Amino acid sequence: MKPEFEVGKDLKKYNTFSISAHANSFAVFKSEKELISLLEEVEKTGLPMLILGGGSNLLFTKDYEGTVLKNEIKGIQVLSEDDATILVKCGAGENWHEFVQYCVNKGWAGIENLSLIPGTVGASPIQNIGAYGAEVKDTIESVECIEIENKSKNRFLAADCAFGYRESIFKKQAKGKYVITQVVFRLKKQAAVNTSYGAIQQILDEKKIISPTIRDVSTAVIEIRKSKLPNPAQLGNAGSFFKNPEIPQQQFDKLKQQFPDIVSYPGLHSGMIKVPAGWLIERSGWKGKTIGKVGVHRLQALVLVNYGGASGQEVVDLSLEVRKTVKEMFGIDLEPEVNII
Ligand code: FAD
Ligand code: EPU
Repeated sequence: MKPEFEVGKDLKKYNTFSISAHANSFAVFKSEKELISLLEEVEKTGLPMLILGGGSNLLFTKDYEGTVLKNEIKGIQVLSEDDATILVKCGAGENWHEFVQYCVNKGWAGIENLSLIPGTVGASPIQNIGAYGAEVKDTIESVECIEIENKSKNRFLAADCAFGYRESIFKKQAKGKYVITQVVFRLKKQAAVNTSYGAIQQILDEKKIISPTIRDVSTAVIEIRKSKLPNPAQLGNAGSFFKNPEIPQQQFDKLKQQFPDIVSYPGLHSGMIKVPAGWLIERSGWKGKTIGKVGVHRLQALVLVNYGGASGQEVVDLSLEVRKTVKEMFGIDLEPEVNII
């Protein structure tokens, strides 16, 4: 059956910020064939198009004057395996956390630290999702997509994806040019668990777990996340609103004199230091503050929230206020992580 377009669809339940915004038209695709037929229809309208996964990393600031196509391509398939590794292909419309749990149950290691991240498998390479000491790029073998312009099938090997911290080619040169339809992961059968993120080890110690399994790590990560990140089903948000900035060592040394308790990590680039944006925002006095229907979360200052009925513009306005204060106080310009539409 050919997928149907719905006119004037409210996207409120399709974005985790729970922002009401209407799309001119909206359709769901469950296969590459359906996607291609929808792309051909959309092309005739000449209007813009947005691919939607779980809507957990975007913010609608107005109605969407174009077509929203929601990805529901499902299916998990083992491509090959040996004693040590397994290659698994996953439909881009699968729920990320459910895929992680599927792999953990099978004993396939590599993505357990990324448990409970909302959204779809297909969006995971776009910002190279990361948490608790892991990034998805380290498990991706390849990304399969449809090129929007000519509807041809393409495959990006991980090395061609230009992965970085919350970055990939899909946010830069390839932005808006491809629809990701499948992701192939290379997972390990003999797990070497990663408990480098302090809080994970702490939970394992509390539970007296000496030789943790990937299930133990996944459970610990879920516990930590639930303790500080708001559940979008209860409070609208899109996770970290900003990226953690990297600043030159010299700038950091000056800040350290002024703010001796500033938190820092080695940067990804030499001579650069990473400073948690959550610390900067908390120190600038914004943590837990509310303006109208929006606010800065009381447990995680990096998360902006919609207390109900807010517009996307109200969230953006709050983010600009937060950026302004952080810039004035620390000389650091925070960059949004969320896709503002
Ligand atoms: P969407 O929000 O639907 O889309 C995001 C962008 O990708 C949009 O530009 C969209 O057009 C594009 N897109 C989506 N799917 C496709 C596709 N198949 N092909 C082409 N383009 C596509 N992120 C982290 O990295 N680490 C975290 O720890 C983390 N924690 C979070 C916690 C909470 C409570 C929330 C709400 C979010 C969190 N996030 C985190 C952000 C978010 O979960 C991820 O960015 C996730 O990968 C987004 O997936 P999605 O399917 O919801 O993408
Ligand atoms: N901090 C504060 N106050 C806060 C929040 C954080 O001072 O309100 C400081 C603390 O020093 C803390 C440090 O920041 O030790 C780091 O905090 P946390 O471990 O909560 O991580 P984060 O840097 O705030 C990043 C990711 C999250 C990811 C976590 C866990 C980014 C932008 N965010 O947050 O990803 O889940 O680490 O690894 O890199 C997301 O991308 O949406 C997201 C939630």
